[in-house]
Amino acid sequence: MAFPLIQPHGGTLINRLLTDVARDSARDCAPTLVQVPLTDTNLADLEMIATGALSPLTGFMGEADYKSVVHSLRLANGLPWTIPVTLAVSADLAAQIKIGDQVALVENGNALALLNVAEKYHYDREAEAQHVYRTTETAHPGVARLYKQGDVLLAGDIDVIDLPARTSTEFADLRYTPTESRRIFAERGWRRIVGFQTRNPIHRAHEYIQKSALEIVDGLLLHPLVGETKADDIPADIRIESYKAILDVYYPQTRVLLGVFPAAMRYAGPREAIFHAIARKNYGCSHFIVGRDHAGVGKYYGTYDAHYIFDEFTPEEIGITPLFFEHTFYCKQCGGVVSLKTCPHDSSHHVTLSGTQVREILARGDLLPTEFTRPEVSRVLMRAVRERIS
Ligand code: ADX
Repeated sequence: MAFPLIQPHGGTLINRLLTDVARDSARDCAPTLVQVPLTDTNLADLEMIATGALSPLTGFMGEADYKSVVHSLRLANGLPWTIPVTLAVSADLAAQIKIGDQVALVENGNALALLNVAEKYHYDREAEAQHVYRTTETAHPGVARLYKQGDVLLAGDIDVIDLPARTSTEFADLRYTPTESRRIFAERGWRRIVGFQTRNPIHRAHEYIQKSALEIVDGLLLHPLVGETKADDIPADIRIESYKAILDVYYPQTRVLLGVFPAAMRYAGPREAIFHAIARKNYGCSHFIVGRDHAGVGKYYGTYDAHYIFDEFTPEEIGITPLFFEHTFYCKQCGGVVSLKTCPHDSSHHVTLSGTQVREILARGDLLPTEFTRPEVSRVLMRAVRERIS
């Protein structure tokens, strides 16, 4: 008997992709409408709304949802939601648009979708920054992006004609939609699946927490984020290559699925952990890994703030079960990867490297310590550092 997978957030998997005649007529009318250009982050949001990864969202958020998310960590109907999903435009462009209009959402001159404009409203950037990012400093990449965007938010349901161009050019073979990942899980007979979010190449601590989690479930969805990240993060293609380099050798093929997560990083730490978890629930995951400083940047969040935020909700309303991991690392005394929870030795026995140290070692042409990263991954990174970064 096939076991049912976890319900999507809000109960229904959203699909905003037009088909057949409706798609043709939307494509025909798009050139006659006001053209609204999309940013990289908007494109990622559009793809995720269209495919149901952000269920129950059917479009860009209206004011009641937006304010409720910013101030109360919930949609206006009470459902947990922690990150605003909005469409900002300039005041000049907004002046050309009336409530009730349809507008075309555009990528490089191509109309991808129609937005049925239900609302346009002003918003308080500082309040959003303070509540969502816990800072108004523009050194924070999420805040910097927020402060650069337009003054007016357009809201309403979207009807998608075409997904962004990248969906067919970047990682097309790994870009499973929630419907597809759910189908694969069902075909493999997996009932409990743990999702793993990352914006980095894989290292031993990642592998350790992934495999520890896999011990108690049926399958592992490795789900590196491939939307926009800050300039000094390792590029997405290198991250994916690092995964491919070790997947066949060290992971059981029957228990692991590598897919890509289209989202843009917000670097909103604890709030983004909830957002990441809910999206993976939509992909069909029953469990989600939250380690140290999940989705963090700089020193804006406490190491385990992304664990504590789950206490703001009941387990039932989040639905997906978080699996919390302490800071993990290799300990020479223990002879393996351990965590602060499981290792009795002091830090002189621990192998930890900062990002700068990693870069220096790779730039010298040396492999990273195998306690830190597998050699297959080191080689991918070394080549990337030589070709692009130095
Ligand atoms: S994130 O921005 O996507 O969270 P990263 O790719 O570094 O960044 O982390 C992916 C996941 O692994 C997150 O859940 C993070 O908390 C966890 N993680 C990363 N490194 C460690 C570590 N050394 N110990 C414990 N958890 C970790």
